[in-house]
Amino acid sequence: MIGSAMVRLLKEKNFQNVVVRSHSALDLTREEQVEHFFESENPDYVILAAGKVGGILANSRFPADFIETNLKIQTNVLSAARRSNTKRLIYFGSSCMYPIGARQPMGEKDLFNGQLEQTSIAYAVSKIAGVQTCLAFNSQEGEHRFIPVIPNSTYGEYDDLDPESGHVLSSLVRRFHEAKLSGASAVLLWGSGQPRREFINGNDVASACFLLLQSDLSSFDFPINLGTGEDVSIAELAVMIREVVGYRGEIEWDANKPDGVMQKLLDASRIRSLGWEPQVTLDNGIRKFYDWFLKEVQTGS
Ligand SMILES: NC(=O)c1ccc[n+]([C@@H]2O[C@H](COP(=O)([O-])OP(=O)(O)OC[C@H]3O[C@@H](n4cnc5c(N)ncnc54)[C@H](OP(=O)(O)O)[C@@H]3O)[C@@H](O)[C@H]2O)c1
Repeated sequence: MIGSAMVRLLKEKNFQNVVVRSHSALDLTREEQVEHFFESENPDYVILAAGKVGGILANSRFPADFIETNLKIQTNVLSAARRSNTKRLIYFGSSCMYPIGARQPMGEKDLFNGQLEQTSIAYAVSKIAGVQTCLAFNSQEGEHRFIPVIPNSTYGEYDDLDPESGHVLSSLVRRFHEAKLSGASAVLLWGSGQPRREFINGNDVASACFLLLQSDLSSFDFPINLGTGEDVSIAELAVMIREVVGYRGEIEWDANKPDGVMQKLLDASRIRSLGWEPQVTLDNGIRKFYDWFLKEVQTGS
């Protein structure tokens, strides 16, 4: 999802030499393949948008896959970039790296000083390792080449639509869409609906990364949060999505299911100090996402 938003943005801006590899063409967990890619392509700028990514269900079921895959991918890619002529590399951390109970909104200085949420701990530890690798590379070399960013919950075109592995926003769109088609009288959702989450559109993540690839970062502190500054409760999100999808039934909550952390809002002052602002409101973003979703469903994905 984030990778495709980045490619769209670079094409819009008329970049002619954007090199993309799919998972099937280049397995980033394989060191020799990554080495070969860097030797043959010698990229100036790298956006490492590949990884094992998923929602609460996938994270709690497959923690081994999350930590193993992400550690391998990032070690291979960051190490190859370190040895090559790469001028800048963007690495994506995650808001689940922040400790439980961190003050809100969470600033980058609140990282690494408390306990992590249990359901996503394996993924979070791999992401912390990636951020620390970037910081260590920069520190030892006295450079600012490796830029770790922390987007909050991201959504948009090419989001994972699989209910087993997807994130909350895309899962809710699918649930309400299917309930509309089946004429169900109610949709039962996990948890109390009370936790608050901040959603950022993939296109806004891409525009922030684009800015970071060009800005003077010599006196800038890393990592860098990416968020809109506004959060919504899951119950409010559900009502917004029901409206966009046009489902007329009720929303019910299964409070026996886990809520996760009660709030995850990022302080995005660092990226805003460069003049960046998100362009996509949540309501518009959901509408555009649903348009894309309908096309995907029609083409049978
Ligand atoms: N989505 C979010 O809410 C969010 C928030 C914060 C940070 N991030 C981070 O941002 C990055 C991008 O996330 P995303 O949501 O855009 O993920 P995504 O849509 O799931 O895309 C990840 C891509 O990585 C590919 N991939 C997986 N294993 C690979 C391998 N071994 N070699 C090559 N490619 C591989 C996947 O291909 P297949 O599908 O074929 O496996 C997929 O195309 C990740 O690092 C994620 O942790 C995401």
